[in-house]
Amino acid sequence: RKEEVSRHQQVLDMAQAHYARSLKQSPEAVRYLKQRGVTGEFAARFGLGWAGHDRRGLAAVFPNYEEPVLVESGLVIESEDGRRYDRFRERIMFPIRNQRGSLIGFGGRIIGKGEPKYLNSPETPLFSKGNELYGLWEARTAIRGEGHVLVVEGYMDVVGLAQHGVGNAVATLGTATTPAHIQKLLRASSKIVFSFDGDKAGRRAAWRALLACLPLLRDDISMRFLFLPADHDPDSYIREYGAEAFKATVAEAMALSRFMLEELASHHAMDEPEGRAACVHEAKPLFDLLPAGALRMQIEREFARLVQLTPEELAQMFRGVPDAQP
Ligand code: CTP
Ligand code: MN
Ligand code: MN
Ligand code: MN
Ligand code: MN
Repeated sequence: RKEEVSRHQQVLDMAQAHYARSLKQSPEAVRYLKQRGVTGEFAARFGLGWAGHDRRGLAAVFPNYEEPVLVESGLVIESEDGRRYDRFRERIMFPIRNQRGSLIGFGGRIIGKGEPKYLNSPETPLFSKGNELYGLWEARTAIRGEGHVLVVEGYMDVVGLAQHGVGNAVATLGTATTPAHIQKLLRASSKIVFSFDGDKAGRRAAWRALLACLPLLRDDISMRFLFLPADHDPDSYIREYGAEAFKATVAEAMALSRFMLEELASHHAMDEPEGRAACVHEAKPLFDLLPAGALRMQIEREFARLVQLTPEELAQMFRGVPDAQP
């Protein structure tokens, strides 16, 4: 069992070295990264690579292409008729490391047209998408230096920000932010700034992240949300406006409490008693998630104002009398 895991690890490391070598030898892949503003220095820092056009490109480093661990590690796919071929082809490869720096999987971005745009390693004994954060290991020093960690949506956001001197960003791997992510992040820093894409999906992702944060809020941690203009993500924004402008938006990121209250209010007609009542109804389960403490009291007080109840009335709604509604 243990031997299996270490062979799995070895296979990932060998594949990564192969992809990185292939990148240096591929003018089209280098051109793609250059055109996206990624220099050789930063490609090397993140261990970026290239999976070429060959259906069995990895056979160059794994002469025994039939070795079962190649399939178990997700690098090779076995089709129903038993034929094997490389999972990743024609893709820029992003090695994904755990917080200890061990390689656990890959993300691959297609460089031409084609679907899907990003492909990840499948779930393996080493890799569980919903638990990992891309770039956490690479960002560890910058996170300590900056005093906060930035959470973004994409691989290219992490690399693009680092390329512009913002090295403290990590990304979820195309999944919603989970409490497991937040726990990992809080071990790295007590200040988290979420910076999702400025589109509808980004707004939804921010709300999901807020829900994951609520049970873990403490009075000594800070969670903020940054909303970029609608057609931008952190990578495109920093390329267009530069690092100083991006850092300025980070400095002005919205407090979690404000995002929570503004979003709740936006769902309801707050100028009518019915709307304010519905808002209280929607808010109750969220406040139930919040641990008791000064921060919950503060947010409740603001919320009471918003729904035009006294803090005592609100406390009674939330905890005093049992819910009379069916
Ligand atoms: N993603 C994914 N599968 C897709 C599309 C996206 O897993 N088909 C994940 C990837 O982790 C990606 C993230 O969601 O990095 C954000 O998606 P998106 O904003 O569409 O991509 P970008 O990261 O902005 O990619 P790029 O700038 O390269 O177009
Ligand atoms: Mn997006
Ligand atoms: Mn992008
Ligand atoms: Mn994006
Ligand atoms: Mn609603």
